Amino acid sequence: PKIDLIAGTRPNFVKIASLINAIESSDKSFEYRLVHTGQHYDASLSESFFKDLELPEPDFNFGIGSGSQAEQTAGIMLNYEKLLRKNLPDLCLVVGDVNSTMACAITAKKMGVKVAHVEGGIRSNDLKMPEEINRIVTDSIADYFFTTTTSASRNLVNSGHSQESIFFVGNTMIDTLKRFENKFRRPGIWSELSLRPQEYFVLTMHRPANVDEKETLKSFLTEIINHSEDKKIIFPIHPRTSKTLDLDEIINSNLHIIPPLGYLDFNYLVKNSLGVITDSGGITEETTAMNVPCITLRDNTERPETVEIGTNDLIGTNPKNIAPAIKKILTNNWKKGQLPDKWDGKSGERIISILQEILVE
Ligand code: UD1
Repeated sequence: PKIDLIAGTRPNFVKIASLINAIESSDKSFEYRLVHTGQHYDASLSESFFKDLELPEPDFNFGIGSGSQAEQTAGIMLNYEKLLRKNLPDLCLVVGDVNSTMACAITAKKMGVKVAHVEGGIRSNDLKMPEEINRIVTDSIADYFFTTTTSASRNLVNSGHSQESIFFVGNTMIDTLKRFENKFRRPGIWSELSLRPQEYFVLTMHRPANVDEKETLKSFLTEIINHSEDKKIIFPIHPRTSKTLDLDEIINSNLHIIPPLGYLDFNYLVKNSLGVITDSGGITEETTAMNVPCITLRDNTERPETVEIGTNDLIGTNPKNIAPAIKKILTNNWKKGQLPDKWDGKSGERIISILQEILVE
């Protein structure tokens, strides 16, 4: 059987890496094409991930780049439809919740190709997020679902999908984390700032609601700087965020804004940090897996297990909530987390062996 593996953005590459590794370690009854939509195109968000994660060169790169939601989605659909016209796979496998995920799922399905969604079923119930729309649309047409948690499976059953189409397999992002953990490497900033384990925070922000307005972003940063005492804050900045921020306005000796880091460098930093402050989804899973305290600057999460079982706490988007949360970490009063079921590094293998049954039957 032939599978198209779709990836477009940084978090997609991490999930696809697990699947390619599982295919390569299986009896290779699958042929696959790696399709990169080009949604992320900066070397720091794309190329460096291919290198760090030992991914093969993509078979196709649509080079779609930035644009409005509609431009990006439509551009990816046009490109993928052209590719499918020439050669149809037996399955289109999409991961996560980005525009590339939804665009390729719709295109494949309309061309009569079956669609599998890895990380299906998670819901923030916040329709202001483009990602939530992408999740709902993708899940509404997908044929097979591979879920990270039992609550994601439940969401799918509740929206009318049959049990037979849903497979609880665990988390491919954690497969990749475990696989590369012993290759994590110190980023340059480590020696530049003489960082020491558990003596600094890592900060990441890229959600439109948090970073597109300058005043909102500044008020978050001010609170973080004012309450982290003498700890350094390392802020690898997403291109979306650096567009808003005028760096000269935030001069503080503890805040270190650096370009986005590669996968191995970033996770070295996270693993050794005192805690992470973020508005990401994927990072809340990685911190849970590495047992690192995580403060999430969002009002909701599609990953409730990171809060209920893991080390994550959802503090909302009022900057006033930052001080008490940081205090908890500084005074060593953060909760201890556990690993959600099946986040054991074997999710990709499970997916590939299930697909073998489905497609080779
Ligand atoms: C996208 C995903 C989000 C995911 C995030 C991870 C959607 C709707 N959002 O958000 O779910 O968590 O990726 O990073 O798919 N840009 C660059 N260089 C790049 C990529 C983007 O400069 O390589 C700029 C673009 O010009 C754009 C902005 O960053 O203005 C946002 O990029 P985009 O891909 O639209 O969304 P993200 O915010 O990265």
